[in-house]
This record gives sequence, structure tokens and C-alpha cells, in this order.
Amino acid sequence: MDRLNAPARLMIVSDLDHTMVDHHDPENMSLLRFNALWEARYRHDSLLVFSTGRSPTLYKQLRKEKPMLTPDITIMSVGTEITYGTSMVPDDGWVEVLNHKWDRNIVTEEASKFSELILQSETEQRPHKVSFYVDKDKARNVRKGLSEIFAKHGLDVKIIYSGGMDLDILPQGAGKGQALAYLHKKFKAEGKLPTNTLVCGDSGNDAELFSIPDVHGVMVSNAQEELLQWHAENAKGNPKIIHATERCAAGIIQAIGHFNLGPNTSPRDITNFSDSELENVSASSEIVKFFLFYERWRRAEVENCEIYLASVKADCDASGILVHPSGVELPLCGAITGMRNYYGDKQGQQFRVWVDRVLSTQTGLDTWLVKFNKWELSGKIDLLVTGTCLHMGAVNRVSL
Ligand code: GLC
Ligand code: MG
Repeated sequence: MDRLNAPARLMIVSDLDHTMVDHHDPENMSLLRFNALWEARYRHDSLLVFSTGRSPTLYKQLRKEKPMLTPDITIMSVGTEITYGTSMVPDDGWVEVLNHKWDRNIVTEEASKFSELILQSETEQRPHKVSFYVDKDKARNVRKGLSEIFAKHGLDVKIIYSGGMDLDILPQGAGKGQALAYLHKKFKAEGKLPTNTLVCGDSGNDAELFSIPDVHGVMVSNAQEELLQWHAENAKGNPKIIHATERCAAGIIQAIGHFNLGPNTSPRDITNFSDSELENVSASSEIVKFFLFYERWRRAEVENCEIYLASVKADCDASGILVHPSGVELPLCGAITGMRNYYGDKQGQQFRVWVDRVLSTQTGLDTWLVKFNKWELSGKIDLLVTGTCLHMGAVNRVSL
């Protein structure tokens, strides 16, 4: 990744469904807590990698449904597609690797002879991934049968069972673990091997992430039986792998603390910002805090107190400006005054705000240019995107 010119302090490689994203939490609290922590304390010198079984189509759909950050690297279709950055530029070198001993036609033809296998939707069939559903009690035999047939054809394939229902057939060199090993190798060649890597997962297709050398791993509390069983058989006693007591993204935050990988208090868990220690102050964390205040203000979760607004304003540099992507500039102080009219307008509603890709550059002695995207989740699944820059001065005087 060109964004960092030194090894990442932390690289998080996380599965999405039931790991980063909790489908049983309509409030998305643990995900929002993780987002705030990542943007305030990690984004500037660390790497966020999402590694999902979903195809690009279903991945993009999830992004429209859940308050997710934009990762630096997106690995999709069970480690068969690697893309970089916001524009998701594919890694063509990885495609080359996967073509080895892979013949998609033979795979689909032979698999179609198994009546127990039900083909997944067309979007989930990818150049290096053929996916089915199969009942839990039939999975073991089907896998065995498939392996024997593919071996006869001289194909080197990998069969992965996840979530007690999904069966994926991939080239042997593919999978989430192999994709991570490939990235590690690439980073190493550039002299940028991350200082720490934390892998996070909940199901069968995540298992191989945990066997990559030197990584820390967290199986979230809600991990599937097949992953726990894999762990019991293959990695028991490895102190670098934990089974968290917390669900999903809260389990990831727990692991950051457990392995001492860096700060593990989410700004969302701080109710009184004026109490937070000064050493934590950075332009990025101030932006995170500012929009948390904005969310709480509109949800009427902070007091409607003129003094509070005035103190927020007084703490911001008088020359601070917001720059909308359209180029329109708005004085920061004016924007804060304008908030008076919005107090509580989202009270009782599912209104959430999170900032994404917060990157700051110091432009003067006490001036920062901070670029970020602010997202809003309002009402149902109404995702509002804005890209904004902010000049803020004297960051160490800002306490929201
Ligand atoms: C995701 C994919 C699916 C795959 C499953 C397990 O749900 O959409 O195709 O089988 O992950 O890897
Ligand atoms: Mg999962």
C-alpha cells in the first residue's frame, strides 16, 4: 500500500459477516465503536483489510446496509479476489497465481453430479470460486467424494465448509489464509511487513487465517462450531489465538487490548471528553470526537446547553474552515452555531454518524489539514456520503 511509507503499526485482517458486522445488532454498536477507535487512533499509520466470502456484488450491498469503514485492502470471494484502495484496483498478480492447476469447467461439471449440492446465486460464482449450499450432515461425505474426483482429474482444489451450510470450491493456492500470506510476502519485499497483524474471524473459511505465521488471532465469541473445532484440532495452546468473550467487533477491540497491540478505548465509550488525557490528542481524534458530539447533539443525548455549544466553538480555532467537496467553504464556528437549530431533531431515531479515512497533515505550527469522509445513517438505510476537508488550528486546545 502506497499510502504508508513505513511498515504498518497494525494490520487488521477481518472477516465481515458475524465478525466485523454483527447481524444481530440492529444498532450496530460494536461496529461503530470499532470505527471510532480505528479512525481516531489507527488509520494514519495502520492498515485495515476486510477479508470476506462475499463476491464484489454482495460486498457492495453490505456497505449500503451497514455503517462500515472503507478498508485499505478488500479481499473478496474467499481470498480469490484482492483489490486495493477506494477504487478497488484488482491485483492481477494474484489472478495469475490462482490459475495454477485450476479448471473451472471441470469443477462445475463434476460438482453438478452431486445431488446434495445446491448451487448458490449467480453473483457468488466467480472465476476462482464455485459455491454451493449443502446440509451439515451431508457435508463430510460430499467433500470426500469431490476431493477424490478432482484428484483424478489432476486438479489441485480446496474445499471449504462455512457457517454450517456453504461449500466453496477454490484453487488450492486460494483462500483467505493464502491471500494474506501473499500480501505479507509483498509487504516484506517492499520492506513494509506490518509490525503486528491481527486476524479476526468466526467461521470455517476464516480458519486458515489463523495458521499464517506470526499473526495474532481472535475468534469472536459467537464463532461457529466448525472454526472452534478446527482450533481445537490444530491450534490449541497457541497463546497468539484467543476466543473472545465479546461478540463481533467488540471481540476485535478486546483482542487489541489482550495482545497489547495499541489503544483499545473507543472514543464512543468516552462520555466526558474533557476528562480524556491530553496525550491522546491528535487532529484525527478531534474529528472523531467532534462528529460524536454532533451525533449526540442531534439525538439529544447531550444537554441542550448554550454553554456547551459555546465552549465547543471557543475551543476550535477561530480560522477553522470546513471545505465541502464542491469547494464551498464554511467557517467552522458558523457551522457549530448552526447546530443550535438541529438540537434533538433526530431524537428517538436511528441516526448515526461516523467518519471514514481520516487523514491529517500538519500544515503549520498549529494547523492541520484533515481530510475525511463523513457518513450518516438516518432512518432506515439512508446512507449519506460527504467528503470534507477541515483546517483546524491549535489542536491541543480543542476539547469537545
Ligand atoms: C459468503 C459468500 C458465499 C460463500 C460463503 C462462505 O456468504 O457469499 O458464496 O459460500 O461466504 O465462504
Ligand atoms: Mg463470517
